[in-house]
Amino acid sequence: MDLKEYLETNALQVDRLINRYFGSASGELGKASAHLLLAGGKRLRPALLLLSADAVRKGSSIDVMPAALALELTHSFTLIHDDIMDADAVRRGVPTVHTLWDEPTAILAGDVLFASAFEFIALADAPDSAKVRAVSMLARTCVEICEGQHMDISFESRDDVLEGEYLKMVEKKTGVLYAAAAGIGAILAGGNPAYADALYNFGRGIGMAFQIQDDIIDLVAPAEVSGKDRASDLREGKKTIISIKALEKGFDLSEYRRELANAEIDAVIGKLEELGVMGEVRDLAREVISTGKKRIGILPESEEKQLLLDIADHFLARSF
Ligand code: IPE
Ligand code: IPE
Ligand code: MG
Ligand code: MG
Ligand code: MG
Repeated sequence: MDLKEYLETNALQVDRLINRYFGSASGELGKASAHLLLAGGKRLRPALLLLSADAVRKGSSIDVMPAALALELTHSFTLIHDDIMDADAVRRGVPTVHTLWDEPTAILAGDVLFASAFEFIALADAPDSAKVRAVSMLARTCVEICEGQHMDISFESRDDVLEGEYLKMVEKKTGVLYAAAAGIGAILAGGNPAYADALYNFGRGIGMAFQIQDDIIDLVAPAEVSGKDRASDLREGKKTIISIKALEKGFDLSEYRRELANAEIDAVIGKLEELGVMGEVRDLAREVISTGKKRIGILPESEEKQLLLDIADHFLARSF
C-alpha cells in the first residue's frame, strides 16, 4: 500500500470511530466538543500511533485503536484552545469553536476532549502495566504542550528570540505529541523498549519539521487550501522560523502585525524568497526530517517502517 492510500484508509477509520462516539453529541457543550472532531482533519497522529504499533508487533494496531482516537482527541483539544490564543476564526474549513459558541464554552469543550483522551487510552487492548506507561506519557506530553504554547505566546512580545529558543518551543508545542503518538503505539503493542525509544525520538524530530512546514503553510497557502486563517502568524506577531530568519537579514515582519490583504502577503513572500529566507527554512526542515528518520534505523524492516519513513517525507511535501 502506498502512503496516500494508507492515510486515506486511516482517516476513514478514525472518522468512523469519531462518528460512533461523538456523532450524536447532545447539549451545547457536547456539540461544541464534537464540532472540530467532526470537521475532519488529516488524522496524522493516529496514523503514526497505529503504524508504530504494527512496526513493533504486526497486527497489533487493531488492539490499540482506542489509543489512536485518544491522540486525535488530545490534538483537537490543543487546537480548540490554540484558536482562542491565536484569535483564529477558521479551522478545518469551519468556524472555530469559540466563534460559533464563546470562549468559556470553547475552553470547556477542549477540557472535555482532554479528559476523554485518557478514558480512551484505558480502553486499549493491552496489559495494564503498558497502559499505565502510556497514560503517564500522554500526561507528561500535555504538560509539555502547555509549556510550548506558553513559550509561543510569550515570544509575541519579544524581538530577540533565537533560533534555538524557537526549536525548543516547537519541540514542546508540536514535536512531543507526535513523539507520544509513536511512543504510545510501541508501548501498547508491547514493543522492545529500545524500539519504543527510537520511535518516540523519531516522532519528536519529524513533528518539529511538521511545525516548520506549518509555519510555511500559514504564509503561503490560501485559506481554502489550509482550512485556516492565512498569515495568522504575521497578524499575531508570532516568532516563527520565517520571522526569525527574516529579522537576521534585516527584514522585520513586525510591521505586518495587522489584518492583511492577500496581495500584501504575496509581496512579503516575494521579498522573503529574494532574501533567501524561504530557501533556508526549507533546508532546515529537510535537515530535521533527515535526522528524525535516522532514529528508526534500528527497527526491523517492514511495510510499516517504510510507511513511517514515507510519512516523514510527506511532512515536508504537504501543502496543507
Ligand atoms: C495543526 O495540526 C496544528 C499544528 C501542530 C501545526 P494539523 O495540521 O495536523 O491539523 P489537522 O488535524 O489536519 O486539522
Ligand atoms: C499549534 O501551532 C500547535 C499546537 C499545539 C496546537 P499553530 O498555532 O501554528 O497551529 P495552527 O497553525 O493554528 O494549526
Ligand atoms: Mg494557531
Ligand atoms: Mg498557536
Ligand atoms: Mg500554524
